[in-house]
Amino acid sequence: FMLKEIYEQSSTLRNTLRLQDQFLELMTEFLDRAGEVFLVAAGTSYHACLAASYMFSKLAFLATHPIIASEFVEQHGKSVNIDSTILFVSQSGETADTLAALDHARLRASTILGLTNVIGSTLTRLSRVYVCQQSGPEIGVAATKTFTSQLSVLAQLALRLAKRRGKVSHVEIEFLEKKLQQIPDIAEDILRTQPGKIKQLAKKYCDKPCFFYLGRGISSATALEGRLKLLEIAYVPAIAYPAGESKHGPISLIETGFPLVFICPRDETHKMVVSNIMEMKARGASIIIVCEEGDEELKRLADDCIEVPKGVPEILSPIVYVIPLQLFAYYMALEQ
Ligand code: BG6
Repeated sequence: FMLKEIYEQSSTLRNTLRLQDQFLELMTEFLDRAGEVFLVAAGTSYHACLAASYMFSKLAFLATHPIIASEFVEQHGKSVNIDSTILFVSQSGETADTLAALDHARLRASTILGLTNVIGSTLTRLSRVYVCQQSGPEIGVAATKTFTSQLSVLAQLALRLAKRRGKVSHVEIEFLEKKLQQIPDIAEDILRTQPGKIKQLAKKYCDKPCFFYLGRGISSATALEGRLKLLEIAYVPAIAYPAGESKHGPISLIETGFPLVFICPRDETHKMVVSNIMEMKARGASIIIVCEEGDEELKRLADDCIEVPKGVPEILSPIVYVIPLQLFAYYMALEQ
């Protein structure tokens, strides 16, 4: 089922582009009016929230707080109030930690918004407004297609909010809207061209006892999700960090042959990631890079490289860059 659901992503992403306009618009209005915004979720859905915090900040100039559901009450329980708006993201709409945070927020009279895949779930019943991501049932335990759909919905919300707030030029908004429409085709392209190579990589690296996933900016969320898939499915210990933070401790793990997966789209962080890669290479790490097609600078540095089609804008990059990582986790699990 996991493999089937990974392959479904080009069609689920198409469905997610056909959401009901009025609910997206209403949710955008709540976000625009909010005093403070929290994005609360567990597991993979939390990684979608983390990526979304970059989208909202970069496009709509809205600061949001992505919070792990099981930490929400401890961290913000006393401060949330009637002025807080909380977007709960849950594929199932039933995760106990997420619902516990939601109960607390309701008691404090906060505005509850929901993003879920299951109509009729507790999250849909308790939300002031909810959006259904339209990914179809996910049978595999590891979230794959529902993650990319969540990201697509969150990007659509960030774009609408940017439009409403007039923070970004209409030329840029139109460009990003067009790119979002192309994402399902790009997913299809990756699923057609990359699996053979990823299978070979899994064979090459399957004996490694531990992996390191690194990315900067929005790609740090992609790194966390890639690492979670490997842990959850292949039972291989893995660490993920924002690449810039890796020098503050975790770098001491690196020795000859230690496998490092860098997620490196051609965005504003590219130059800094190149220097992180050189740092790790100098310590003998084996470098696997997920990068843009034809990125010769990175290909020269990499031991192995997975290429993603050109021209994916930074804020949409997690939707496509995570797909090779899902496949890698799947093939690694088969090799164990
Ligand atoms: C975990 C699953 O138990 O729940 C993860 O293993 C999932 O894959 C997480 O991301 C959260 O689930 P949901 O339904 O709230 O998005």
